[in-house]
Parts: sequence; C-alpha cells; structure tokens
Amino acid sequence: RWSEFVQIKEVGPRDGLQNESELISTADKIHWINTLSESGVREIEYSSFVHPKWVPALADAHEVGRRIKRHPDVRYSALVPNMKGLELALEAGIDGASVFMSASETHNRKNINKSIDETYPVLAEVIESAKAAGKHVTGYVSTVFDCPYEGKITPDQVLSVCDRLIEAGVDDISLGDTIGTAVPTQVDQLLGEVLSRLPGEKVIMHFHDTRGMAIANIMRSMEYGITRFDSSIGGLGGCPYAPGAAGNVATNDVLYLLNGLGIRTGIDENKLQEAALFIQNKLEKALPSKSLAYAASQ
Ligand code: HMG
Ligand code: MG
Repeated sequence: RWSEFVQIKEVGPRDGLQNESELISTADKIHWINTLSESGVREIEYSSFVHPKWVPALADAHEVGRRIKRHPDVRYSALVPNMKGLELALEAGIDGASVFMSASETHNRKNINKSIDETYPVLAEVIESAKAAGKHVTGYVSTVFDCPYEGKITPDQVLSVCDRLIEAGVDDISLGDTIGTAVPTQVDQLLGEVLSRLPGEKVIMHFHDTRGMAIANIMRSMEYGITRFDSSIGGLGGCPYAPGAAGNVATNDVLYLLNGLGIRTGIDENKLQEAALFIQNKLEKALPSKSLAYAASQ
C-alpha cells in the first residue's frame, strides 16, 4: 500500500531555528548538526544564505557551512534567495541549493520583497548557476493550501509556480503548508492536480504542524505514493514572515509513525533523540513533539 522506504529531510537547523528568538551559538549549531549527521538522515538543510537582517538567527550560515563535519551519505543543503546568497553558499559548501517562493502574491512579497513575476528571473539565474556548479536544486513553494494574508490558494496558483520552477530546472519541488492549516481533503485536491503534471518522486511535502494535522496529511500524501517529507527535529520552527506559523512536523513524530507502519527511513531513533534533547536544552524550553516528550520521560 505504501512505499517501503521514506526519505526525510531534516530542516530543523534552517526552518527550526529561523523563527527562534533565543540565539544558539555557532559552536552549538555545529555540534548539533554533526549529531544529526550521525542519525542516518540523508539530507540536512543546515542554514539560510538570506539577508541577516531578515533572519538574524541564521546570520552565521557561512561559518556553520565551513565548520560542520560532512558525512559522506548526507546531502547538505541551504536556503538561497538570490545570486548573492548562492555565491556565499557555494563558498561555505553546499550539496544542494533550496530556492523558495510563494504561491501567494502577498506572502511572496512579505517574505522576499518581490512580486511573483519579479521572482522568476532571479530564481532562474540561481537555479541555472547552481546546476552549472553541479548542485542539486529544490524549489520550495510556500502557502500551497492557505495564505495568512490572502486565505485560500487554488491548486492552479500552485501549479503555475511549479511549472515555472520545473521549466527553470529545479530537480524537485517541496510543497509547503506554511501555516499548517490543511486537512487531508486539501491534500487530495492538491496532489490530484500536481501528480497529473509531475512524477511523484519529484514531489516533497513540507507540513507545518500548527493545528496538529501534519501526521494525518503525511498519511494521506503517502496514499498518493509520496515518499519524501520535510520535518524538523522536535517540531522546532516556523516562517518569520507568516504570522501564526508554528514549527514543522516533528521528525521524531514522523519517525514514530513510520517505524510503527514498518516503513524504513534509515534513521536511528536514539541518535535523533540525543540531537533533539541537545537543542531543547540549549533553547531552555520543551519542544512541541509529543513522541520526544514521551521518550524523554522514560
Ligand atoms: P531586498 O532588501 O529586496 O534585497 O531583500 P536587495 O536585493 O534589494 O538587496 C538589499 C541589500 O541586501 C544589499 O546590500 C544586498 O547586497 C543585500 P547593500 O547593497 O544595501 O549593502 N543582500 C544580501 N545580503 C546577504 N545575503 C543575501 C543578500 N541578498 C541581498 N542573500 C531578500 C531580498 C530575498 C534578500 C530578503 O527579502 C531576504 O533575505 N528574505 C529572506 C526571508 C526568509 O528567509 N524567510 C524565511 C524562509 S522561507 C520559509 O520559511 C518557507 C519554507 O520553509 C517553506 C514553507 O514552509 O512554506 C521554505
Ligand atoms: Mg517551512
């Protein structure tokens, strides 16, 4: 019924930390990412090469990229908004560049200061240069279900952004429920359309868990043959330019689900818990993941 293997991309060091007011030291980030690298996860988004004024918590992206210990089985990616970001990311070292834009005009403008139409040529140049440098390129599309400013977003709006990103040369597309509003029937509507245009292996689902619906939406996505999900350790995260956006679905919760269903991920639960407890201690607050809280209480 489902695939035997699901690939998880750990986005905690990027999506998780970008919204935290408590700043984590560079040395702690490096130690944390190195621990995550040993957990068996195959892809880690380690930071963002965005303007440090926009996301102060990730202002040390360059140093983090230079100093993390690279595990040969892990693809290290980072968020890149433009050519300046790509140059810095290439210097710091990336295996993958993640470009990003929104299906909502207003969210796109609030997040990257451009209209949707103005964004395409900027990203097209980044995608072309990153591919020329031999890097994997993922295109994130935000607010694929609902936008905090505009309300409902239609599958057609999402498809038109996906088409342009694919045309520009991205390897895959990550569809973001940025503010965690979707329920499985919305997943049906969107994936029904998207999968008529794109092969399932190019589609990644990126659920935030604001209302606790992410696990249900992951289950529904797996029924469509989706095998790739973004998640954040402990459930850290949120988009600073999307009011009310809580963290991503917790990697620990996704792992609990997949292990229970007998689906392989290659991730070691104990190592993941070690990494989660490390960052929880540094942030001095309980992370949202229920499976983490339960496991840690045992
Ligand atoms: P801007 O102000 O329009 O940029 O910001 P600009 O091109 O006009 O340049 C202004 C100044 O910024 C210049 O410096 C540039 O050099 C500098 P000056 O000449 O004035 O001294 N600059 C940069 N500096 C460092 N790194 C750069 C960079 N680019 C320009 N890369 C920009 C446009 C895109 C840079 C800005 O809006 C920005 O950084 N936005 C990032 C916002 C962000 O990170 N949001 C969160 C991530 S998205 C997300 O969380 C959603 C996702 O998880 C999926 C989902 O959940 O849906 C991915
Ligand atoms: Mg996100």
